[in-house]
Amino acid sequence: MLEFSAIPPLRAWLVEQRAVGKRIGLVPTMGALHEGHLSLVDEARRRSDAVVMTVFVNPLQFGPGEDFRRYPRDLERDRALARERGVTALFLPAAEVMYPPGSDTRVVPGAIADRWEGTTRPGHFAGVLTVVAKLFHLTQPDVAVFGQKDIQQATLVRRMVADLNFTVELVVSPTVRESDGLALSSRNAYLDAEGRRQALALSHVLRTVDRAWRAGECDPATLERHMRDEFRMFPGVMVDYIAIVDPIRMAPVETAAGGTIVAVAGRIGATRLLDNHIFGTEFR
Ligand code: PAJ
Repeated sequence: MLEFSAIPPLRAWLVEQRAVGKRIGLVPTMGALHEGHLSLVDEARRRSDAVVMTVFVNPLQFGPGEDFRRYPRDLERDRALARERGVTALFLPAAEVMYPPGSDTRVVPGAIADRWEGTTRPGHFAGVLTVVAKLFHLTQPDVAVFGQKDIQQATLVRRMVADLNFTVELVVSPTVRESDGLALSSRNAYLDAEGRRQALALSHVLRTVDRAWRAGECDPATLERHMRDEFRMFPGVMVDYIAIVDPIRMAPVETAAGGTIVAVAGRIGATRLLDNHIFGTEFR
């Protein structure tokens, strides 16, 4: 596995790869790799010949009171996992490489970013889109793989690709879960034993609402009420939002149909967790 921390050698290597006809796949991450991230590598390998994984804890997407400083970092482990999984090249830029002094330009997301995560985390998606746009320019991938786990992020990246005329093919890959249903997340590491039990609320509620929808209930208000009732069994979870929305604008729907997204966010102590399900897909 190759490793780059500077831009010019990464670019030079990518030029060579393209010259011999290789398709480039990109998997952007913030590290603390888990099976969710690694499933994106599998997907990228299926669709390209050389997979670039980036590991960069992007300061721009963290708010003032957020967990930028304590975000889990374990480069040795990430390196080993990426190598084992068949990553071709790891890009590990320092903050000054991505944002040299004087750097000032930002990608401003539209209305999709004002809802849900955007309400609790103002500026977050501008930070995400700015770094993703930079990574797209730096690597010019044929395909980039993102996780369904962060569905509003994936939706915003899809919008940016269309709006800013990127030519990359965007693939959104299903959420990888623990055997009990908890969506894998680097932030799960913050949970203690009781927090871990409470965290099951999110997948439990999504599984329940999926059952109700399959049984024929498609009124969003009824589905949401049903979910709030189920959340009561988990008093340790402060529900941030329940969103039953369309997959393009992420605006509330009048009827939950196949393709409608149900997204939830909740807090367990200081830890914020997200999960979602797309009606009509298998809940795994
Ligand atoms: P990070 O949280 O490290 O996630 C990197 C990628 O892994 C994202 O596309 C995310 O949706 C995906 N992912 C996380 N958990 C997953 C799971 N359980 N199953 C499947 N995919 C999962 O998301 C980011 O980093 C950043 O915002 C980034 C896009 C890298 C920009 O800084």
